[in-house]
Amino acid sequence: MNGDPTPDPGPDESAGVRRRGGPGVVAHRGASAALPEHTLAAYELAIEQGADGLECDVRLTKDQQLVCVHDRTIDRTSTGTGVVSEMTLAQLREFDFGSWHSAEVSAPVLTLAELLTLTLDQKRRPIRLFIETKHPVRQGGLVEQLLLAELHRFGVAQPPSADHSRAVVISFSTSGVWRIRRNAPMLPTVLLGDTARLFGGSAATAVGATGIGPSIATLREHPDLVDRAAAAGRETYCWTVDEADDVSLCTELGVGWIATNHPDRVYALLNPPAIGA
Ligand code: G3P
Ligand code: CA
Repeated sequence: MNGDPTPDPGPDESAGVRRRGGPGVVAHRGASAALPEHTLAAYELAIEQGADGLECDVRLTKDQQLVCVHDRTIDRTSTGTGVVSEMTLAQLREFDFGSWHSAEVSAPVLTLAELLTLTLDQKRRPIRLFIETKHPVRQGGLVEQLLLAELHRFGVAQPPSADHSRAVVISFSTSGVWRIRRNAPMLPTVLLGDTARLFGGSAATAVGATGIGPSIATLREHPDLVDRAAAAGRETYCWTVDEADDVSLCTELGVGWIATNHPDRVYALLNPPAIGA
């Protein structure tokens, strides 16, 4: 795994990145209950467990490298301390990003290039990568600019259609979503939110998001969001869905993608063994 774009076309995607029927399972920061979030091992496990998609958060380092780190600092998830945007990639690589977790595995910081390589290398089925840009950050729109450059480098910035896209850019930031929409109109985007701005759909319309991303708490309170989004031609991506009742709710409502820290559990709930099997 060297993070270089792969020329291998991967699995047959003529039918698009399809789900089995029912919501697609997205591994939130990888199989992050079992293994430390945003590590290669957590993503590899998620794929083994049947995930259709992977979710990651991206931030820019001081030397403008895209790394998969959720928090502004590395204090919670590594052996180091400090602000991601004030450290170079080489500095981040001095620390361990796995040993804080109860699984006690060791792992380096993960770059977006490494995660894209893993995603696109899958031969058995196409995997979709949901990439969340975090805001506010001191680099502002440079994050989306460099993210798009990276998606172009990997050949996934101009899919023939949203259904065929291997990458989706998601963000709580309306400006972040709009920057992607304006510069890469074929890439699907999800406007995340757990506030009233998703309800009328006006913010998603204004920025051209192809999907909305309510939290599961928001969806429990406002189940009509899914139908309203569908009526406007948008998919729904819901996070973070770990409990059986919530998986059932999302399935009944027609949610397109559910992000979970337990892809094994959610996959099993959505794919029960056939009677008599
Ligand atoms: O997938 C969306 C979800 O990850 C947003 O919340 O804080 O876990 O990034 P957060
Ligand atoms: Ca996230």
